[in-house]
Amino acid sequence: MSVPWSLGFVGAGVMADVMIGGLLAEGVLPADHIIASDHNEARLAQLHVHHGVRTTRDNRAAAEGSEVLVLAVKPQNLAEVLAELRGRVPPQATVLSIVAGAGLDTLHRGLQHDHLVRCMPNLPCRIRRGMTVWTARGDLADRQRVRAILQVMGQELFVDHEAQVDQATAVNGTGPAVVAEFVKAMVEAANYIGEPREVAHQTVLATLIGTAELIRAAGQDGTHVAQLIDEVTSPGGTTSRALQVLKMGRFGAVVTEAIDAAHQRTLELGRGLDQAVGPAPGPPR
Ligand SMILES: NC(=O)c1ccc[n+]([C@@H]2O[C@H](COP(=O)([O-])OP(=O)(O)OC[C@H]3O[C@@H](n4cnc5c(N)ncnc54)[C@H](OP(=O)(O)O)[C@@H]3O)[C@@H](O)[C@H]2O)c1
Repeated sequence: MSVPWSLGFVGAGVMADVMIGGLLAEGVLPADHIIASDHNEARLAQLHVHHGVRTTRDNRAAAEGSEVLVLAVKPQNLAEVLAELRGRVPPQATVLSIVAGAGLDTLHRGLQHDHLVRCMPNLPCRIRRGMTVWTARGDLADRQRVRAILQVMGQELFVDHEAQVDQATAVNGTGPAVVAEFVKAMVEAANYIGEPREVAHQTVLATLIGTAELIRAAGQDGTHVAQLIDEVTSPGGTTSRALQVLKMGRFGAVVTEAIDAAHQRTLELGRGLDQAVGPAPGPPR
């Protein structure tokens, strides 16, 4: 991307910091082409000192000068931000929302703007090993720019149907906490049978990362994860005994129930945001 363009952030918190850090490290944009707005002066000062980007307390100013505008506030602040920015985003600009649960219709109604991207990043984005699932509405001439922004956080996947972003909110959004909960349980189990805590932590993490890499490599050759489990499970062996206990504890069913609950909550959050934005947009303020 040879010609620098202008990028704005409304909300200068954790995610804005992560994205700006990645964008600068990857040389996607120079710092003076990035502006961040927030109502928190201290946070803006921190962002400016860390990254050298321009900052403002005026959300509208950030929006008006941006070709791509990232909405990076918490869901509870979205309705007020949309009302404030309505009519202030340049018509050809792309608005990219990372707000969990906020649907494209809600964003469109609240902002009265056509070019919209909704995405769901996850926690490992903080170390640029995240997974972001995204979709778009309107004519997206900026698709390459959006990709460049999302790729600084790790992998990105475009999906045609917005429902898949809701599903991703439950799967890759909630996933890191579910996996971390599993790691915690494994370390406690190892400790229970006598493995020292620091050894347990190291072996559990290495097992998790190694298994994930193996599943990925095997998948590339068309090997299904169930086949790998079969390969390590000899009749009457240790793995067989462990898997039997997981089955009796409804392991698979509990994971499904947890992800389903997260999905239901995502949809509920989306309906709440939709209501907060309201049915009829007023004229631009
Ligand atoms: N953190 C993650 O790992 C993650 C992952 C996926 C998606 N997300 C989504 O990313 C979004 C941002 O998350 P985050 O963790 O970066 O949140 P955050 O650290 O709380 O940052 C949000 C910032 O927006 C500011 N803000 C609130 N109302 C504002 C307004 N009206 N105008 C301007 N600024 C305002 C907040 O200030 P105050 O704190 O003073 O209110 C805060 O500095 C959320 O919607 C979340 O769902 C986060």
